[in-house]
Amino acid sequence: MFTEAHVDFFNQQPTPFYYYDMDLLNLTLRQVKKWGLSKGFHVHYALKANNHIQLLQRLQEAGLGADCVSGGEIERAIEGGFSPDQIAFAGVGKSDQEIELALSLNIFCFNVESIEELTVLNEIAGKKGQVAPIALRINPDVDAKTHRYITTGLSENKFGINEESLAEALTLVHELDHIQLIGIHFHIGSQINQLEPFQKLVRRANELNQHIEAQGHHLTVINVGGGFGINYEAPDAEPIPDFERFFGLFESSMNLKNHQQLHFELGRSVVGQCGSLITKVLYTKPGRTRKFAIVDAGMTELLRPALYQATHHMEVLTSDLPPETYDIVGPICESSDTFRKSVELSGLQRGDIIAMRSTGAYGEVMTSRYNLRPQNPSVFSSQIPALAT
Ligand code: LLP
Repeated sequence: MFTEAHVDFFNQQPTPFYYYDMDLLNLTLRQVKKWGLSKGFHVHYALKANNHIQLLQRLQEAGLGADCVSGGEIERAIEGGFSPDQIAFAGVGKSDQEIELALSLNIFCFNVESIEELTVLNEIAGKKGQVAPIALRINPDVDAKTHRYITTGLSENKFGINEESLAEALTLVHELDHIQLIGIHFHIGSQINQLEPFQKLVRRANELNQHIEAQGHHLTVINVGGGFGINYEAPDAEPIPDFERFFGLFESSMNLKNHQQLHFELGRSVVGQCGSLITKVLYTKPGRTRKFAIVDAGMTELLRPALYQATHHMEVLTSDLPPETYDIVGPICESSDTFRKSVELSGLQRGDIIAMRSTGAYGEVMTSRYNLRPQNPSVFSSQIPALAT
C-alpha cells in the first residue's frame, strides 16, 4: 500500500499523524453503492467512527446519510454537507440542548432509547410547536459475539428499550401529540465478523416489525444499525469488507412491506481500512526476553489496543533488516500504553517509520490530551504530489 513517495512525504511531516488513503475510501464507497445504495437501502454513516470534514464530504457525495450521537456531530455533519433530512440522531443520553438543536434543524429522525426520553422529547417538541419523527431503539437481546465493551444488543446492556417495556412505549407513542413513530431501530454491536448475529437480528427485526404493524403502527423506517467488522489481521488481503455478503443477507431475509425502507448505520466498515497511524521509532532497548521499540505514538493517539486489547497490523515502511521480535510501546507513563507484544518485524532502528494499519475508524476520534502531547495535522493521499492523478 505504501510507496517511496509516501515515505519521502512522511519523512517531512511531524510524527505521529493519521494518514488517509482517499482512493481506498472511494473504492470502498463504490462497493457500498453497488451492494447497498443501489438496492434501495439507506446507509447513514456513523460519524463517531471518524468525523474529518474531507471524509464526510466524500461520504455525502457518495449518497450516504449521517448517524450522529451528539449535538457536536450534528453540527459537523451539516458542515460536511449533509442536509438535516439525512441525519439520524441516536444516543442513550441526549441532552435537552441537543434535542432542541436537532428539532430546530428538522432532522430526519430521533432514535429514542427509553420511555423517559420519549416524554422529554414530546415536551420539548411541544414547546416548540413541533412533532418529532422517531424510531424506537429496541434491544433485541442478540449476542454480537464481539468484545464485551462494544456489545450493545444484549438485555444486560444499557442500550435501547427492552421487550418488557415495549408495550408501554408503544401505548405512550399513541398518546403523545408531539411524537410521530416512523420506525424501529436496532444496533447489536461493533466489529462483528460473522454473519450469524446479523441473521439473529434479522429474525427479531422481522418478528417485531410484524408485531408492531399489527397493532396499527405505520413503520416506514426499519433501521438495523451498523457493526459490520473489518479485517485487522490482514488489511492488504481484505482492504474492503465483503459488502455483497453483508447487504445480501438483509436483502434476502428481511421481510419488508411496500411502504418500508431498510436503513443501516455503518461506521468502521466504511472508513476503517483507509486510515493508518504513522509513527516513528524513537528508541529501541533490550528487555529480558525481547526488544522494546518505543515509538512516538501512544495510547493518546490510538486507544484501541489499551482499551479493547485490539490488534493493529504494523507495517514497517523503512527497514530491510532481518526480522526481530519486539514489543511496540508508546511514550505514555503507564504499561497499558502497549500496541503489540512479541510481534515479529523487520529490524528497527531510531527513525524508522511504522504504519499502524486499519485505524481509520475509532482512531483519531478517540485521541486525548492526556500528557498534553502535540496533535499533528492529518495527511490525505491527495496531498502527496507524486500520488495525485
Ligand atoms: N449505530 C449505533 C447506534 C452505534 O452505537 C454504532 C457504534 C454504530 C451505529 C456504528 O457501528 P460500526 O458500523 O462502526 O461498528 N470505539 C469502539 C467502537 C464503538 C462502537 C460504538 N457504536 C472501537 O474502537 O472498536
